[in-house]
Amino acid sequence: MAKTTIQNVSRHLNEEVTIGAWIHNKRSSGKIAFLQLRDGTGFIQGVVGKNDLGEDKFNKAKTLSQETSLYVTGTVVEDKRSPLGFELQISDFSIIQEAEDYPITPKEHGTEFLMDHRHLWLRSKKQHAVMKVRNEIIRATYEFFNDNGYVKIDPPILTGSSAEGTTELFHTKYFDEEAYLSQSGQLYLEAAAMAFNKVFSFGPTFRAEKSKTRRHLIEFWMIEPEMAFMDHEDSLEVQEEYVSYIAQSVLRNCKMELEVLERDLTSLQKIEAPFPRITYDDAIQLLKDKGFTDIDWGDDFGAPHETAIADSYEKPVFITHFPTEIKAFYMKPDPERADVALCADLIAPEGYGEIIGGSQRIDDLELMKQRYEEHNLTGDAYQWYLQLRQYGSVPHSGFGLGLERTVAWIAGVEHVRETIPFPRLLNRLYP
Ligand code: 4AD
Ligand code: MG
Repeated sequence: MAKTTIQNVSRHLNEEVTIGAWIHNKRSSGKIAFLQLRDGTGFIQGVVGKNDLGEDKFNKAKTLSQETSLYVTGTVVEDKRSPLGFELQISDFSIIQEAEDYPITPKEHGTEFLMDHRHLWLRSKKQHAVMKVRNEIIRATYEFFNDNGYVKIDPPILTGSSAEGTTELFHTKYFDEEAYLSQSGQLYLEAAAMAFNKVFSFGPTFRAEKSKTRRHLIEFWMIEPEMAFMDHEDSLEVQEEYVSYIAQSVLRNCKMELEVLERDLTSLQKIEAPFPRITYDDAIQLLKDKGFTDIDWGDDFGAPHETAIADSYEKPVFITHFPTEIKAFYMKPDPERADVALCADLIAPEGYGEIIGGSQRIDDLELMKQRYEEHNLTGDAYQWYLQLRQYGSVPHSGFGLGLERTVAWIAGVEHVRETIPFPRLLNRLYP
């Protein structure tokens, strides 16, 4: 008899199969019981008839507790009403372990309770769907960059330098030296772009940010492409193509998950390049026109500002040319106007905020040395980065996409804590 998984039952129509599964839910009426089964690959309804299994087994089936693990044998039959299109007519089952009283029941639970049980909460239908969307975005990311000639490069996690300023660094000891957990692989990716032309990374990054918002994690995953011989405008084109690609891939390959998540599909269907662009100057004006009195030229945007700007568009919007002052040391100033940088943030629709930060990088040695002084980047940790401007410096650009914010937006979940298997938040390191 074929051992299979729920996602593959369609290959076994009208055949008897065995599936390793857990009891998700159950109900019974008279001589028939319905077991909602899950096996990690999907959900299927199993039908148990008293006449098929005999009295003892049938009675046992009716008492199976939630999350009991078992092998189920049955015939795959069509069921047009179920989202899967199939159900299982159970002919036998053998229990692996009878679960104790499961803490997460179909009733409502508070967020802190669910977060304390994250190791179990991951089994629920909604969390399962979110993780599958995350997985699809990762899959589509590799596909997009591999198909477009990028080489995957893995920057170090333990570093002696900081890319995004020193206030949000996690410090650790590296034997006798001081080290940090990476905030961004960018500086290393710039070195790699000079060796491989177009590169990308995908890895964890760490920010000791004391922010407790729906957009902030302490540990999050970033996709960081870096491209030699590409300027700011070229980079924006890569960004809009990439983001469109992942949105369309999820729409195509996660239909069932988006349905579980009750995601509005029409807004996702609109995510096609090109995306609108607005300069920082114009964004400030737009906010003032909308009645914001708490923002002036030179200020960074907060969440309400980003949301108000995003609400003027149906697609993600690039805010370009931020004041050089409020951005990172490596960003190239606009040659026409040194007080703004050749950079952009990409703001997602529907209030999900900034999903990408990117820029053209300074390629001039003298200007970079000047920035080092202004930002106090002394010591050996940054010397190698200066050398990239000594030996065949070229215009180059790159960006970082925050995976969890992107998953939150595409899956339509409110808070980034549900978009990573085991979130690290302010005050949460458990489980
Ligand atoms: O804008 P950021 O800080 O840019 C960089 O780190 C650049 N060095 C990237 C590059 O050019 N290679 O971060 C990039 C993205 C943000 O747009 C956001 O999506 C995400 O990373 N991000 C966070 N996501 C969750 N929690 C946090 N605390 C985040 N901080 C940034
Ligand atoms: Mg940013």
